[in-house]
Amino acid sequence: MNDRLLRALRREPVDCTPVWFMRQAGRYMAEYRAIRSKYTLLEICDRPEVTAEVTLQPVRLGVDACILFADILLPLAPMGCPFSFEKGEGPVLHKPIVKASDVDELRLIDPRESLSHVLEGVRLSKRELAGKLPLIGFAGAPFTLASYLLEGGKSAHFLKTKRFMIEHPEAWEKLMVKLSTVVADLLIAQIDAGADVVQLFDSWVGQLSPHDYTTYVLPHVQGIFEKLQARNVPTIHFGTGTATLLEHMATCKSSAVGLDWRMPFAKGWETIGHEKAVQGNLDPCMLFAPPEKLFAAADRILAEAGGRNGHVFNVGHGILPETDPGVVKALVDHVHERSKR
Ligand code: CP3
Repeated sequence: MNDRLLRALRREPVDCTPVWFMRQAGRYMAEYRAIRSKYTLLEICDRPEVTAEVTLQPVRLGVDACILFADILLPLAPMGCPFSFEKGEGPVLHKPIVKASDVDELRLIDPRESLSHVLEGVRLSKRELAGKLPLIGFAGAPFTLASYLLEGGKSAHFLKTKRFMIEHPEAWEKLMVKLSTVVADLLIAQIDAGADVVQLFDSWVGQLSPHDYTTYVLPHVQGIFEKLQARNVPTIHFGTGTATLLEHMATCKSSAVGLDWRMPFAKGWETIGHEKAVQGNLDPCMLFAPPEKLFAAADRILAEAGGRNGHVFNVGHGILPETDPGVVKALVDHVHERSKR
């Protein structure tokens, strides 16, 4: 097995820096678009054999891991909040949470039953990877999931989410407990189905002040990583816009923290502490720059990582749909070559 990713996440020496990309399976790849012309996103996620096929598509780019093809919103439907993906709008929740008592209606699910197709997708992807590359499982973090439940879709200011958090602290607490329970169970079930690593996506948490993060969110995320300790697989804690939250995120028992490009890499790692691994942090827009500028940006990140054990190269947020897969492959090769120990 190519175990660079696992070794880096455990801060063990590697032959070169491992690379994978958030959203590495997706619309920028022609072979993904071919599948999407036959199935909707949710149909791909419902069919384990299609899930596995899409999960493995980025292998040809030379990446050091595959990430399960799924979506952070999948647990919300069986919990009682169905949603769909509308063209140009992103996710739309059909019954967003509006009042405090709506939280009581949310069902606590057993992912092994309600999301058995996702777990079958993990098992099939593992089988098809045949031990060549590690498989990353994932889930959305409670704040980011709550933001979709409360906003009903994407949001600019997260006003409904923040109002609910401040006006209904008891219902917010119940919501966080329910979501954290489901998320931890789902991640553990993915590990038991074969995931070698799991990543928690708290994509929108950077919207919060450090005070509100530590008061309303952090204890629940700490609890999730605490539960994951029992399985002893590496874990990644990712968010964006987290420069002022990193010191608090670092108190969670994750193996690694994901950094976006707004935080200089070396400063970010110092803030997190060198006893954790770090993932990041190229601006995904740099994949549109002329090759010499793209490679220079990658080299700056590698220089800031300074050859220290525990760096996983990635973008600071998902690959954009307009990206050229040829550039992605060239970047993977460049990082591997430049980081050779
Ligand atoms: O390759 C991978 O990274 C695995 C697949 C993956 C998807 N969603 C498939 C998907 C992953 C890891 C996710 C996570 C996810 N989903 C997040 C966290 C990561 C992040 O980007 O911050 C979030 C916030 C979501 C919710 C979500 N799903 C949104 C906001 C959208 C619409 C965005 C858009 O570009 O239209 C989705 C849809 C979605 N999930 C797509 C993919 C490939 C694109 C739609 C499509 O193919 O039709």
